[in-house]
Amino acid sequence: MKEIAREIRTLLMGIIAKREKAIRNGETTKDDLLGLLLESNMRENEQNGKSDSSLGMTIDEVIEECKLFYFAGQETTSVLLTWTLIVLSMHPEWQEKAREEVLQHFGREKPDFDALSRLKVVNMILYEVLRLYPPAVMLTRRTYKTMQLGDLTIPPGVLLGIPIIFIHHDPDIWGSDATEFKPTRFAEGISNATMNGQLAFFPFGWGPRICIGQNFALIEAKMGLSMILQNFKFELSEKYQHAPYTVVTVHPEHGAPIKFQRI
Ligand code: HEM
Repeated sequence: MKEIAREIRTLLMGIIAKREKAIRNGETTKDDLLGLLLESNMRENEQNGKSDSSLGMTIDEVIEECKLFYFAGQETTSVLLTWTLIVLSMHPEWQEKAREEVLQHFGREKPDFDALSRLKVVNMILYEVLRLYPPAVMLTRRTYKTMQLGDLTIPPGVLLGIPIIFIHHDPDIWGSDATEFKPTRFAEGISNATMNGQLAFFPFGWGPRICIGQNFALIEAKMGLSMILQNFKFELSEKYQHAPYTVVTVHPEHGAPIKFQRI
């Protein structure tokens, strides 16, 4: 593990050093997060002098941010797309509905960014997949002071686990069909999807630490799924075994062997 951690650090240091050099030489950095982060950081440090370490970020902090964005953004979105392909293989009628919508909006053209947010069926499908297979199954919090939660008084230093996946599957909230794939429950938006309108859908967390990448993730998933639907019909291979399995994210334990047919 230490070796891998060292290797990742060296890789990131290399990328960061190259970018910093480019900024110093007045070259425009690419319009991406690392470029923005470094530029704002260098400006901050120049304006305030390097002695005040409370301003700006250290190189280690920049490295940690890069790791966080990669870790938080890559596998989560990838397992969302994986489960979506699995579920749409299990429910070919929904695969067809989604394809119809995509072809209606984009035909064979590359999906355009603005129109992606108008996809209704695809959106309902992604929400339903996020409900049944939330990539992050649990949120954890630690109390730093005595907290009152309803009738409960919780002392400082208690670890709380908020099991997103159980809440997403609770029949008291979602109805007796809670474990079924039924995208229509999101037809009238998230707040009308539950039996009594209570907040029970939070695949991206909630509150001040809500996922900063959620819009990006949904656009990415819609773009990927639309392009797959435009070009392929797909079904599960006989080898597929349904075994949701959690190691950090929830993913199919034996992979997702899927047969694609070009259309
Ligand atoms: C389907 C995809 C995704 C899911 C399900 C997801 C889920 C989550 C959840 C549940 C949290 C809250 C964690 C907590 O409260 O303890 C979170 C936070 C975060 N996510 Fe995502 N995420 C996704 C995609 C992304 C992407 C694409 C990015 C970046 C490009 C990203 C960056 C982050 C970051 C930086 C945080 C921490 C925010 C903070 O603590 O202020 N996520 N995500």
